[in-house]
Amino acid sequence: MKERILAIQEEGKAELALVQDAVALQVWEIKYLGRKSELNSLLKGLKDLSPEEKRVVGPLANATRQELSQAFSVFQAELLEKNQDWEADRIDVTAPGKSFPSGHLHPVTHLEHEIEDIFTSMGFDIADGPEAEKEWYNFDALNFPKNHPARDMQDTFWLASEKKWKDKYVMRTHTSPVQIRYMETHKPPYRIIVPGRVFRNEATDASHEHTFHQFECLMVDKAGEVSVSTFKYIAEAFFEKFFGKKVTVRLRPSFFPFTEPSFEFDISCVLCDGKGCSTCKGTCWLEIGGAGMVNQKVFEAAGYKRGQYQGFAWGFGLTRLGLMKYRITDIRLLMSGDLRFIRQF
Ligand code: FA5
Repeated sequence: MKERILAIQEEGKAELALVQDAVALQVWEIKYLGRKSELNSLLKGLKDLSPEEKRVVGPLANATRQELSQAFSVFQAELLEKNQDWEADRIDVTAPGKSFPSGHLHPVTHLEHEIEDIFTSMGFDIADGPEAEKEWYNFDALNFPKNHPARDMQDTFWLASEKKWKDKYVMRTHTSPVQIRYMETHKPPYRIIVPGRVFRNEATDASHEHTFHQFECLMVDKAGEVSVSTFKYIAEAFFEKFFGKKVTVRLRPSFFPFTEPSFEFDISCVLCDGKGCSTCKGTCWLEIGGAGMVNQKVFEAAGYKRGQYQGFAWGFGLTRLGLMKYRITDIRLLMSGDLRFIRQF
């Protein structure tokens, strides 16, 4: 046993000299000074030795343990001094974290999602169409007569087109062309909304943008199943959910080539509740969009038989609704790209 203790002492010192880092030092400590180390087992076995052996081996084993632990302490201190990075590498799990800037949905996208949620809960589907649209879908199929001033109702961005092309293209001036695209590929009954970006070549001011969002609503069924009152009921249900309070709807006679009869659509001012304010210009009514019963000529353009179906459609200014909901006084802020504004949402 004496020889083995002396050997442990030699091996321990030799291995300690080879240690390079804190992890290796910890392994060394477990091997030579740990509870399950060979030296510890030998110390525990002392009790089984004869008194003479105990007298020799006991002090030797204790001295070896003391020598190795002293060598360990000296080595540990040297290593620590040599490698101060240990401290720097230590992770303080209690330190406050670094915050990373993260983006969020644009307020208009958020509004779009909110509107989609309300309508899907009422059984509507969401439809979509191209922003660069054929003249046919944006105007002709919607019963805008060729060269008729009605085409100037919506100042149009015409896209440069090649003579050999069959179609002329525009940046869609409203979401109504999606009505035709949907009719062409679906058979009534159906109810859809079409939220989307539209473009108008017009001067901008606090309530007019050249690029803004609308959302179209279209509900078609057999003749006699859908009426103006269906449309008024759905619109009121939507506004009540959207603004979180009762909103009164008012229809005024108007003209759109694709609806007959046509209405201008107002809601009671949600900002002043009948007291009169600058947004409603003291009238207590806010103009939201156009609406009407789908003109049978539109059904025909989409390939339906005249008189077979009846439906209503509306096109609301989604961006304008956003202005009211968030009490924004200038529509141009929304698409300005100014992060100081966007970050407030
Ligand atoms: C239309 O665009 C029709 N397509 C609406 C329609 C659909 C009528 C279905 C009948 C049936 P109008 O050009 O009025 O209609 O535009 C509808 C709404 O879009 C306006 O009431 C307004 O809220 C919004 N809007 C119009 N021009 C602008 C603009 N430059 N900036 C912001 N919002 C606008």
